[in-house]
Amino acid sequence: MSDSHSAMTLPSNPQARRLARVITAMNTSDGAGVRLRRSLGSGEGTRLDPFLMLDEFSSENPGDYIAGFPSHPHRGFETVTYILDGHMRHEDHLGNQGDLKSGGVQWMTAGRGIIHSEMPQQEEGRMRGFQLWINLPAREKMKPAGYRDIQADEIPVRALTGGGRVKIIAGTVTISSEVLTGPISGLTTEPVYLDVELPAGASFSQPLPRGHNAMAYVFEGNLQLAGDSRMLPTHSGAVLSDGDRVDLIAGSTGARFLLLAGLPLNEPVVQYGPFVMNTVEEIEQARSEEHTSELQSRLHL
Ligand code: FE2
Repeated sequence: MSDSHSAMTLPSNPQARRLARVITAMNTSDGAGVRLRRSLGSGEGTRLDPFLMLDEFSSENPGDYIAGFPSHPHRGFETVTYILDGHMRHEDHLGNQGDLKSGGVQWMTAGRGIIHSEMPQQEEGRMRGFQLWINLPAREKMKPAGYRDIQADEIPVRALTGGGRVKIIAGTVTISSEVLTGPISGLTTEPVYLDVELPAGASFSQPLPRGHNAMAYVFEGNLQLAGDSRMLPTHSGAVLSDGDRVDLIAGSTGARFLLLAGLPLNEPVVQYGPFVMNTVEEIEQARSEEHTSELQSRLHL
């Protein structure tokens, strides 16, 4: 992140990003019947390179989440699971086990293949969080799988001078001259992943590298871009135009949103469910290996 961050602080004529389009989250279900809201990846033309999918799950009703995501494969991309409330357990065929608790993040690189389960460890109470899918460049799609649990206390959080606070899951933020970098760095797609909470009328500005795609996803209250009268309601994603920074203002009930940005890969995307590759042939290979590969034979979930 450091090179792009230093570069993006020096534009001679910095330009604010504008609202390019709004993606409204759609109600759907996945896994063994987990109810969720899908914004990115919900239909034709809703990917935002390098982001493939964004799911928000939030329910007080165990029937909406208890079935979880039993053993399933992935290949060719990364998943980032951020739990706001609740407790989820992850197990994969490589022997990794992780407990995701409130405020924690699991960053999983599927690479050439992983088979895992993601199961709620609570039978009552609110389960709330997000799963983001980030594509891998062609040259990294078949790298070994990787996995990292990030506990809540590893994620920098700072109060904003105008009210509210920001959590830095990935990317770099400067607050009152303090430069803070999230626990995830060094990825080709240079992701920015912030969780920002603002009281009514408060603002938040963030430099973003020119050329990187970006979206603000509102999950509480409502939000506006500075200079734009359109109000973004809860459960909507504001895809931003290109520029050097974004200036956001919370609406009358305050706002809580994710700010996501990443370097577009500009490569062909061929997706079949949990496999995301560059060609149909690669997808067919993944599907054939799903049932016959060493992945399957080593599965002990
Ligand atoms: Fe998964």
